[in-house]
Amino acid sequence: MQRKVIIDCDPGQDDALMLFLAFAAPKELNILGVCAVAGNVPLEKTQRNICILSDIIGNENVPMFAGCDKPLTNVGLTAEHVHGREGIDGIDIFSPKTKLQPKGAVDFIVETLLSAADDEITLVVTGPLTNIASAMLREPAILPKIREIVVMGGAMREGGNITPSAEFNIFVDPHAAKIVFECGRPIAAFGLDVTHQVFTSPSVLERIAMLDNRVAKASHGMLSFFGRYDAQKYRAQGAPLHDPCTIAYLLQPELFELKSCNIRVETDSELTMGHTGVDFWGVTGLPANTQWAYSVHRDGFFDLLIERLSRY
Ligand code: RIB
Ligand code: CA
Repeated sequence: MQRKVIIDCDPGQDDALMLFLAFAAPKELNILGVCAVAGNVPLEKTQRNICILSDIIGNENVPMFAGCDKPLTNVGLTAEHVHGREGIDGIDIFSPKTKLQPKGAVDFIVETLLSAADDEITLVVTGPLTNIASAMLREPAILPKIREIVVMGGAMREGGNITPSAEFNIFVDPHAAKIVFECGRPIAAFGLDVTHQVFTSPSVLERIAMLDNRVAKASHGMLSFFGRYDAQKYRAQGAPLHDPCTIAYLLQPELFELKSCNIRVETDSELTMGHTGVDFWGVTGLPANTQWAYSVHRDGFFDLLIERLSRY
């Protein structure tokens, strides 16, 4: 049964692989729209990047939208040191044929959800949660329409990647993350604890290099670039494929192990701003609000990703 999804992202090389995986699943996913948010790089680049990636995918019917250019409250932060100045460094940047819709992403999310049935639409979020929280604040009536929120964000045992205690997507807009985690709708969260189990490697890149299509070649270029920073930082052989975990979960949930937990987001402490308090052992007695992913079958994940890339 095809699942209706709205994708919200901040490309980002790993967001790009997430989009490539999502668009290679037409039987499983009905992508209603792709929204850009400020995150890895400023909005002016993430909105351009979704259009570039749309061209590379050969997309002609899924609309692209620009969203929020800064977080709800905190000062914006970007990650060019990880993703490069353009956000999707590793490929030649070009002026895309795909054009952004005139409507803003938040308007698109609100209008699409309001016209949907209850529990009909899945939100896939792989950047700061600003667009999603803004839609919820503007129109709370959208909440019952959300079937599930599948988010890349947070950290527990793995610690933070942008501060000692916070993961980037949550840290950039912790107030937005708090709103989403407290919204009461089903959430599946893929934090660093699970995304750091799917680092790329030379053999993964070799397998992708064997694929003879435009998407695979773009993937190889971006992952080669994306790997340089995290490989050095984590003394690894490549980069963690954070964002594709969301789509892999929708396509093959059996690849993952998740646990029902209460998650709260720190929005006050300067030291731990953006920390996700994942109550894995139920010590707070607070009701669970999230399915927290803590394990993934690495080989199965890369087999899925590479097989789907081969379909382009
Ligand atoms: O912390 C990793 C997350 O932050 C990923 O989504 C990456 O693309 C960046 O947005
Ligand atoms: Ca991202």
